[in-house]
Amino acid sequence: MAKRDKSGPSEGGEAALQGLREDLAQVLRPLVYLSGNLLSRVGVVVTTSSAVTLVVVYVSAFFGSFRPNPYVGILVFLILPGVFVLGLVLIPVGIIREFRRRRRLGALPSIYPTIDFSQRELRRTALFIAVMTAINVPLFAVASYRGTVYMDSVQFCGLTCHQVMAPEFTAYQRSPHARVACVDCHIGPGAPWFVRSKLSGSYQVLAVTFNLYPRPIPTPVHNLRPASETCEECHWPERFSGDKLVIRSKYADDEHNTASKTVLLMHIGGRNLDLTLVGIHGAHLGLVTYISTDEKRQQIPWVSHREPDGTIAEYASTENPPKPELLASGVRRLMDCMDCHNRPSHIFYLPETAVDREMAAGRISASLPFVHKVSVELLKKNYPTRQDAETDLPEALGEYYRKNHLSVYNSQQAEIEQAGRALVYIYEGNVFPAMNVTWGTYPNNLGHMDFPGCFRCHDGNHKTKGGKEITQDCNACHNLLAMDEADPKILHELAGGN
Ligand code: HEC
Ligand code: HEC
Ligand code: HEC
Ligand code: HEC
Ligand code: HEC
Repeated sequence: MAKRDKSGPSEGGEAALQGLREDLAQVLRPLVYLSGNLLSRVGVVVTTSSAVTLVVVYVSAFFGSFRPNPYVGILVFLILPGVFVLGLVLIPVGIIREFRRRRRLGALPSIYPTIDFSQRELRRTALFIAVMTAINVPLFAVASYRGTVYMDSVQFCGLTCHQVMAPEFTAYQRSPHARVACVDCHIGPGAPWFVRSKLSGSYQVLAVTFNLYPRPIPTPVHNLRPASETCEECHWPERFSGDKLVIRSKYADDEHNTASKTVLLMHIGGRNLDLTLVGIHGAHLGLVTYISTDEKRQQIPWVSHREPDGTIAEYASTENPPKPELLASGVRRLMDCMDCHNRPSHIFYLPETAVDREMAAGRISASLPFVHKVSVELLKKNYPTRQDAETDLPEALGEYYRKNHLSVYNSQQAEIEQAGRALVYIYEGNVFPAMNVTWGTYPNNLGHMDFPGCFRCHDGNHKTKGGKEITQDCNACHNLLAMDEADPKILHELAGGN
């Protein structure tokens, strides 16, 4: 107090500042001097280059021009800061080592030189840092980009864990989404989901390494990102799709493989011009929640639906009524795209459907007697490995014709061989003994013939207290324009004939 009275507040402040400067110089001089070692210099370079990259990224992220894909995200937002910290740690470690080395050699100066850019040593250090930073920043950028492009690739996802992902990867390559990257559905944009998926991903890598993974891989993927953030990045949920003509070709098990067609007019719907929601899409999206009692979401005892007037209708199964404790604690799921389109990309068929499809495409010739029946029987047989199936299937088909239809065997060799290849193709897309994946392992919810699908709820047994039921009216979903007809009249009418 007395001191300040004598010299005045401003003078005292200046003196204190001068003192502080000197103290700082006392600390800084040895640091700067000792940091002229290789380790610290490397640290400085690593720190500054990652810092500059980070600043550029953060600024462009702030202005919205940088929307990283997930892998770039993890690199930029997780690994790069780690590199930055590593650099920071290297600097003092280098200084301490240098201090010890010089002390051992007795080479510590009694007075540290002042920080002065006229000194050669200091200029060289500064220049070294500047040059290395300039080289390192673009290097970092290119390296991160290159690495992540690879990690993002379908090859990485589908092939890195070859056997584990084989069923999904194979089916995917044959699906309408064969050109959509795995990460677009399984991870989606943005860093947070990427981190989540990588955390579970690291567990998955361990599981694969130590052979702990479940076979088959369970479905549904319970922590899959909501469709609103994946599918809807490409598909517009309220798009009006109107009615769509669906034609299914089938072949019977008789000698002539009698062909028939089922023609459905599917009421896909969407949002109408007058903004009302109509059809299959319009009836559910954002409106239906449900509780399921099994892992695969196949048993659904309770469903709610938001009616157009805003009230909520609750439907309970009369066959399998929900228990009160289930209603109290059960997890309610808001229905989204994946509850119907649960196999948009990994589509596995039953043998009958698969053979129908190959026959409709002409790869299994319907001119071969009983080929539908025999193909399905052969496909349903048990083959210990895929290699066995690859050799046995064509052989067994040829053998069947040699034994039972020798004239066909002699005259239609090419068709029989082609059919044999088609059987291998079907088998390889649907049966994976090493993963315990076989016919019907993964239910498809789009429909109601092979699996419960729509009829999990639309079974005529889900009713409100007032007795209103979830519709099972065939025409609510589709008009059945022809059912298993050899030559449906409607197709001629549509083609302009009669
Ligand atoms: C068009 C979107 C889409 C693409 C692309 C996609 N998946 Fe899937 N995947 C799904 C859906 C939907 C499920 C089932 C989720 C459910 O039922 O909850 C699934 C399930 C899986 C499963 C769990 C097992 C199963 O079959 O249900 C694995 C494993 C898998 N996918 C791997 C992959 C791999 C590997 C790729 C790339 C080669 C890929 N997925 C590409 C949408 C996609
Ligand atoms: C990256 C963009 C993209 C994403 C993400 C995506 N799709 Fe698609 N989807 C497409 C394209 C493109 C087509 C059309 C393919 C064609 O006709 O060859 C398509 C086709 C479809 C079809 C019609 C298939 C058919 O048999 O013709 C359905 C159904 C579908 N997608 C559902 C989904 C669902 C469900 C998801 C989320 C799990 C999803 N899509 C995610 C791009 C995408
Ligand atoms: C209630 C079940 C259900 C839900 C929920 C649902 N869909 Fe569909 N969707 C269908 C059915 C059924 C079809 C007709 C399939 C066929 O071709 O037989 C269809 C057809 C489609 C098609 C093909 C349309 C065309 O013009 O060929 C696309 C694309 C599609 N859905 C995308 C989606 C997306 C994206 C979502 C989520 C926003 C979604 N669907 C939700 C049942 C559903
Ligand atoms: C989780 C239960 C659930 C599943 C699964 C489900 N729906 Fe629905 N759906 C409902 C409820 C609830 C309603 C509203 C009550 C009603 O209109 O009958 C509804 C209504 C509809 C309607 C409107 C009916 C009308 O008369 O206006 C159509 C069409 C429809 N669903 C088609 C489908 C199709 C196609 C599938 C399968 C691809 C399917 N639903 C799967 C619960 C479900
Ligand atoms: C809740 C909606 C819904 C109801 C109700 C419904 N269906 Fe379907 N149906 C579908 C869907 C979705 C498909 C699958 C279309 C596809 O495979 O692309 C389908 C497919 C079919 C097929 C063709 C299957 C095939 O592979 O050959 C037939 C036949 C059929 N339905 C008959 C009926 C009959 C008969 C009724 C009335 C008792 C009925 N459906 C009620 C939604 C429904």
